[in-house]
Amino acid sequence: MKVHAVFVMSLCAHLAAAGAGAGKEWTYYLGDLSRTHYSRLDQINAKNVEQLQVAWTFRSGGEQQIQCNPIVVDGLLYGVSAERHVFALNAATGEEVWRFVPPDKQAMSGVCRGVQYWASGRDKRIMASMGHSIYALAAKTGKPVPSFGVGGIVDIKKAYDREIGELHVGSTSPGVIYKDTIIVCTRVNEAKPAAPGDILAFDVRTGARKWIFHTIPHPGEFGHETWPPEAWKMAGGANCWAGMSLDEERGIVYIPTGSAAYDFYGPDRKGDNLFANCLLALDAETGKRLWHYQVIRHDLWDRDLPAPPNLVTLNLDGKERDAVAQITKSGHVFVFDRVTGEPLFPIDEVEAPASDIPGEWAAPAQALPLKPPPFARQHFTEDLVTDRAPEARAFVLERLRRARSGPAFVPPSFEGTVIFPGFDGGGEWGGAAVDPETDLLYVNASEMPWLLTMYDVTEGAGGLMQAVGARTYAQNCVFCHGIDLKGDPLREFPPIQDLRAKFSIDQMCALVRDGRNRMPSFAFLMQEEIEAVVQYICGLEAAARETGSATPVATPLPVERWFNHTGYNRFVDQDGYPAVKPPWGTLSAIDLNGGEITWQVTLGESPELAAAGYRNTGAENYGGPIVTAGGLIFIAATKDEMFRAFDKETGALLWETKLPAAGYATPCTYMIRGRQYVVIAAAGGKIGSPAGDAYVAFALPAAK
Ligand code: HEC
Repeated sequence: MKVHAVFVMSLCAHLAAAGAGAGKEWTYYLGDLSRTHYSRLDQINAKNVEQLQVAWTFRSGGEQQIQCNPIVVDGLLYGVSAERHVFALNAATGEEVWRFVPPDKQAMSGVCRGVQYWASGRDKRIMASMGHSIYALAAKTGKPVPSFGVGGIVDIKKAYDREIGELHVGSTSPGVIYKDTIIVCTRVNEAKPAAPGDILAFDVRTGARKWIFHTIPHPGEFGHETWPPEAWKMAGGANCWAGMSLDEERGIVYIPTGSAAYDFYGPDRKGDNLFANCLLALDAETGKRLWHYQVIRHDLWDRDLPAPPNLVTLNLDGKERDAVAQITKSGHVFVFDRVTGEPLFPIDEVEAPASDIPGEWAAPAQALPLKPPPFARQHFTEDLVTDRAPEARAFVLERLRRARSGPAFVPPSFEGTVIFPGFDGGGEWGGAAVDPETDLLYVNASEMPWLLTMYDVTEGAGGLMQAVGARTYAQNCVFCHGIDLKGDPLREFPPIQDLRAKFSIDQMCALVRDGRNRMPSFAFLMQEEIEAVVQYICGLEAAARETGSATPVATPLPVERWFNHTGYNRFVDQDGYPAVKPPWGTLSAIDLNGGEITWQVTLGESPELAAAGYRNTGAENYGGPIVTAGGLIFIAATKDEMFRAFDKETGALLWETKLPAAGYATPCTYMIRGRQYVVIAAAGGKIGSPAGDAYVAFALPAAK
């Protein structure tokens, strides 16, 4: 698409008004509070991008994925290491200036996608939320700020007005800071029991709680009737884990929420479940709801809103409209008026099929935007089955014919329901970039089908699930370690068979109770349940049952009929490649003024297939793009470990280079002493990629 003269003229107004995008530094997560991922820098541009060189590499320490989008303020680059230490570097040289190691281990489990900067006079802070703690660190030294919380730390869990106990709460993405108010993101359990996804705001100076917004409304609050009357006491989820955006002038925070727990079976949450799967617009000062839009009612597909929305000023029928654009895992873009919440493109109500899982209720109608068109394919039909090899095609066809596949909203089923695009999108936490010059939105997507298969926990495996250990396993562990204890190598979940040589029973119980790295803590389970689940994975429970020797462990909870899914399973062929024809990963440019896709290209490929001549397939991807005034889109995100620059007007690939590990993160760009840098975290550690710990900076050769 060509940049029309009108756009160029209105551009100046846009940029001036909104301060859209990042200037010399990258002061905010994803560039600015509008989350445009846009930089006004143009030293690196389409003409010279090929000359980019590595300026420095920082080894952050540890060996795990890094999803962090670092920020750059006053010459320092702030990020987190593979082990979730917060650090500051000299942004020009990559030399470490300070490092903060969280004092409690819980903060180091889960990812941390970035930190925030806040300043008032000479008080300059880095705010990092990790685990269930918020840390206030002096920006210059990394020392905790004693006036914040207790010794610089606030325990998010203590701010709820409902008993949270040992339930998991972990902040993985930065929220926003509005004036003196910090609003945090939380990840909670997706199975039951789970903490509620209430939105919490704190005084950034003192750490005192300022407000709480109940995403599972209490009696008398708007939306309470979209749940069973007592649900607010027990139900969980409806949390914002993915990040937020802020209209600073208006003081409105935009909050995308995820599904209610348990994700795939909701007999105990009959109703639409406000404010799960919503775009929420709240008054940032008070937490008062201004408007909301629910994208999925009574979610049964884990369709969390996966990324902070992009705040843009559109040009619709010659009129400027301040808009908010929200991408989804399903590959849609919803566009609303920022103040009123009015949809700016028509949204269709579609009939949705009923569920035949006993006890389940599926919403009879769901919403789908008519414009822009989806940026990922929607319906896995037989003509989309892989053509990679005849055996692959036969293998997939056989499975597909036994499964349920539909355009959208086919409920979970015992035969297996095809989720396409999959549980990780479509769109994911990498989010979208928007160029305020053209109102083009750039979004990367995966096109991997997944299979959602349900089974009866209480009856499954010939009644075995009646046993406490087996049931505890099914409700808490199966998602990661698999029905057969074999784990999931693609997601780096280890097998847990034959562990007796490695651990004593007590050590295993401690591990389950406390968690370790990405293995969550299960301290909310009863001690009997922990012991029983450990006996189950060691095969002791079954052995005891067979010989009838051991006394069965007392059942601590009444056994109600319950259905689980068998795991987050990608739908792949017999060699592990996607069951669907390429593209498997894409990068799209969507014109938000016209509501059309301007271009779409494949993103990444599989090196071994490419070597065999099966090229340009695209690849599954995690992490987002940035767009610059230099005419470029920078993105890594793919397993082939490449970092790429595309022409933002045409989608042409202009430059690519190999990283030390896959860059499952969003880059940033900034200028110091006249030199523009582009930095990306490259630490692999997902979907079978080797793990690392690097941040790599690129720049043009230094002027002599
Ligand atoms: C969210 C995914 C997830 C869930 C749910 C989960 N685990 Fe894990 N588990 C992991 C990961 C990741 C590791 C590896 C941790 C590490 O790298 O230190 C692990 C490690 C383990 C280990 C140690 C394996 C070894 O060889 O060192 C055991 C035992 C274990 N898990 C048992 C359980 C049990 C029992 C449950 C349910 C109560 C459970 N896990 C639930 C992700 C999970």
